[in-house]
Amino acid sequence: MYKILKKKKLAEQIWLMDVEAPRVAAKCLPGEFLIVKIDRYGERIPLTICDYDREKGTVLIVFQVVGASSYRMAELNEGDFFEDVVGPLGCPSELTKKTPEELRKMNILFVAGGVGTAPVYPQVKWLKEQGVTADVVQGAKNKDLVILEDEMRAVCGDHLYITTDDGSYGFHGLVTAKVEELVEKEGKHYDLCVAIGPMIMMKFVALLTKKLGIPTVASMNPIMVDGTGMCGACRLIVGDEVKFACVDGPEFDAHKIDFDQAMKRARMYASEEGREYLREKE
Ligand code: NAD
Ligand code: FES
Repeated sequence: MYKILKKKKLAEQIWLMDVEAPRVAAKCLPGEFLIVKIDRYGERIPLTICDYDREKGTVLIVFQVVGASSYRMAELNEGDFFEDVVGPLGCPSELTKKTPEELRKMNILFVAGGVGTAPVYPQVKWLKEQGVTADVVQGAKNKDLVILEDEMRAVCGDHLYITTDDGSYGFHGLVTAKVEELVEKEGKHYDLCVAIGPMIMMKFVALLTKKLGIPTVASMNPIMVDGTGMCGACRLIVGDEVKFACVDGPEFDAHKIDFDQAMKRARMYASEEGREYLREKE
């Protein structure tokens, strides 16, 4: 059993939980994810790891209430337990394979959209520990939905650029408009862009960075269902290859991802009829 040590509301329908999970905390790296199960009848819910404390044996997760399972999760309180926390799963960020010297030669840009800010944070924090300060463009619909701002600012200082769609805070516009401004008006040069957020955002970030000539990776967590490599939900096309987000990813070359196909599959997986259709077809 895995105890919830802390629960905090970050924004409407967005929750943070600090969970006792020593085995996951001992090994996890930025980019990896875990699976939680509320009880033995509960669905497996894949979530990216937002932070970890190896000494305390805890992992931080951030989730948005989008359906019955996440609603049940949000009903849990400090002192309650998850039946299971499995992980770390997936492949760590490619950045973790580079030496600090290699990293220090790179200019890295993160584009975080909404709840996607949670998985961006551990990567930026890890880079800071290697002596690298990355630029972060963090977008939200409005001021009330900006999450983890203080935490992010603590690891990237004034390299953090907040955007809101309605202009209620920070730069007025989408994350893509801010990225364009940084590169084209401010003359910034980036060797790598990491985009994590809603699929539509990652699609448009990829289109932009292709035009700007910036190699880009995107995290395909949103299409995962059970996170085991068995259900087939997270099948996606990357270049001319078929991949599974939960075992081959979650990060892939964003310029090669067929986002339209991935979004279409995600919509079909949302209904039983759609799932039946995909099972027959595949
Ligand atoms: P949101 O809809 O508020 O979007 C966040 C930002 O993305 C916006 O502020 C905007 O700047 C940008 N954006 C949105 N549409 C865009 C477009 N067409 N072009 C350019 N930029 C655009 O985000 P939300 O409601 O917090 O998102 C929740 C989604 O994030 C869920 O679908 C969830 O699956 C996903 N998510 C993804 C990951 C991941 O690993 N990729 C992790 C957690 C959550
Ligand atoms: Fe089920 Fe990847 S999430 S196969």
